[in-house]
Amino acid sequence: MSARSEPGTPVADRATAGFRQRYGAEPAGRWAAPGRVNLIGEHTDYNDGFVLPFALPLRTVVAAAPAPGGRWTVWSELDDEPVEFGPADADEPGRVDGWAAYVAGVVWALRADGHDVPGARLAVASDVPVGSGLSSSAAIESAVLAALVDLGGLDLPAGRWPRLAQRAENDYVGAPTGIMDQSAVIRGRAGHALFLDCRTEEIEQIPFDLDGAGLAVLVVDSRAPHRHADGEYAARRRSCERAAATLGVSALRDVDVAGLDAALARLDDDETRRRVRHVVTENQRVLDTVALLRAGRVRDTGPLLTASHASMRDDFEITVPEIDTAVEAALSAGAYGARMTGGGFGGCVLALVDAGAADAVAAAVADAYAERGFTAPGTLTVLPAGGVTRLG
Ligand code: GLA
Repeated sequence: MSARSEPGTPVADRATAGFRQRYGAEPAGRWAAPGRVNLIGEHTDYNDGFVLPFALPLRTVVAAAPAPGGRWTVWSELDDEPVEFGPADADEPGRVDGWAAYVAGVVWALRADGHDVPGARLAVASDVPVGSGLSSSAAIESAVLAALVDLGGLDLPAGRWPRLAQRAENDYVGAPTGIMDQSAVIRGRAGHALFLDCRTEEIEQIPFDLDGAGLAVLVVDSRAPHRHADGEYAARRRSCERAAATLGVSALRDVDVAGLDAALARLDDDETRRRVRHVVTENQRVLDTVALLRAGRVRDTGPLLTASHASMRDDFEITVPEIDTAVEAALSAGAYGARMTGGGFGGCVLALVDAGAADAVAAAVADAYAERGFTAPGTLTVLPAGGVTRLG
């Protein structure tokens, strides 16, 4: 029997309905975790640098209840068939694959951290689009983590959740990502961007009052196919790590803008020099953006966003034609700044626009896409929302 809800049903109701239909029982609770966009600070997290993401109003909801027998069953509206696994599967990365690997990965990470994870039944529904670079993976990891911590009464302070969820993704799923996504999804706060120092994990909630400034963030889903994204991401990371080793620092975070020229002079290939220049200048752009936001100068951050995009396009080489087209069209239509957000090779662009101009900018991007024969983009305007939470 399909557990799918009618179109238009709110995500939390879809998770509850899925749980009831699949398991014939009431869930003990529901836990919601958002997707994220990154305002600025791209490919800086795994270089021990700075990022400034915020959580989205789009959420993934997990309805769950403890189950006897110490096994886990998880159903998702993406896939009618539930996946069931036990401790042996959870303890061996790779045994569970596909979307359910994010769930098994969390069980694995908790067990590896010494927790007695309760067996559970889970039902997952999500408004975070998969494969758009809005961190649907961090959202499911974080919602499942919150559910299992609550159901098991586990002693795990929320400050440790991002690292644990990241470990699920790195070591169980096998994606060598940094700590930004899980941090944004877990620690995000409505009306704020999260300024995170990825070395110390210190955070500061930076007021990001778009409404008050008469502004909006328009998110454009480029709908570009993610070509070779995983391999290219890993290659960028290796290149940064090699450069840090050559420079004798533990991470590129340790090179600042003042020391950039001297550092570049010690590297002997042009590609590596460009990669390093992106990371070093991007860290500075995050700091400059934070300074402007602290001063309430939201609109003035636009040029930093656009400079970040140019750096990703020319130095880090992680953009694609659909993405560059969206950025150029948004800027030509009057956006204060625009940039790709996320890992690259597709995904989303964000543009800082006057609230009243969001529709016109979205239309301009759609026109530019039509002219080039690209698949029509998706667009939505967003405000910073809160992080993972229990719904009841
Ligand atoms: C992906 C990763 C993050 C981060 C970004 C790039 O979203 O999951 O850890 O590295 O790419 O900034």
